Amino acid sequence: RIPIIIDTDPGQDDALAILLALSAGLALDIAGITTVAGNVGVAQTTVNALRVCQLAGRPDVPVHAGCAQPILRPLHTAEFMCGADGLAGMDIPAPRRPAQPSHAVPFLIDCIRGSGSGMTICALGPLTNIALALLQAPDIKDRIERLVIMGGARDLGNMTAAAEFNFFVDPHAAAVVFNAGLPITLFPLNATYQAVATPARLASFAAKGPVGTAILSMLRRERPGGAALGGDGGHPMHDACVIAYLLWPTLFEGRDCHVTIETAEGPTVGRSTIDWWGRGGQPANAHVVGSLDADAMFARIAASVRVLDEM
Ligand code: BDR
Ligand code: CA
Repeated sequence: RIPIIIDTDPGQDDALAILLALSAGLALDIAGITTVAGNVGVAQTTVNALRVCQLAGRPDVPVHAGCAQPILRPLHTAEFMCGADGLAGMDIPAPRRPAQPSHAVPFLIDCIRGSGSGMTICALGPLTNIALALLQAPDIKDRIERLVIMGGARDLGNMTAAAEFNFFVDPHAAAVVFNAGLPITLFPLNATYQAVATPARLASFAAKGPVGTAILSMLRRERPGGAALGGDGGHPMHDACVIAYLLWPTLFEGRDCHVTIETAEGPTVGRSTIDWWGRGGQPANAHVVGSLDADAMFARIAASVRVLDEM
């Protein structure tokens, strides 16, 4: 089993990612979930992570609340996309258990240091917690087996013309992470906009229990902004790609590239410059996914999450 920590700002696509990870207990061992401000504020992303674990029958998974603000910039959130509580369309109960008392950053440091064979980190939101952990405890680098990130874009952004949401919210954190010399796999928007939950792909999901029902109603909800915000034909499940990649790596193709993050204020703040063609001659600092088999991915996600309603 691959030991993982999920750093997240749920968010509907984060919720699907967490449910997928929880459903794959034979392959993935979730050491904990850390939350960060992003889609909504951190108090709400923490409640949402707890709600999702409870929905899956796993209220025992430790959830640690993390940073409420990006490192330098004021927080931008995305209620316009994910609703006031971050999980519009899911209609799931409030959590009965609280989050853990310790903050996400010391938890990340201790948990990574204590991992015998190395920890895989799944980064589904702004990279604030992870950057702070790396700055406070640079030694953890040696114990990070891989950091799989959803963020950035090779072409256009979804938050501004230049920037994808997660990197726009905390570009300084993203810059710290990409300069840290870690084994990184990056899922930019070019890849994740291929993972759209179209009606045909939804056909393999079953509403036979609370998990399937919540997923289907979330994926079928009306799309604010419509195709204007990408994902023509349905909701893109950006973050679920990260977990699917750990489970079924052969569904994804990419290449090693040099990636830099724009931190200067202005129209391109948060932009990721991904040297896909290797024009700059700088050494690669990430494996960047370019394409995926979305039909197979959705069919496998549907089959996997179904077990949560059968347990
Ligand atoms: C990313 O931004 C968030 O709104 C999603 O959860 C995803 O992590 C896509 O740009
Ligand atoms: Ca997210």
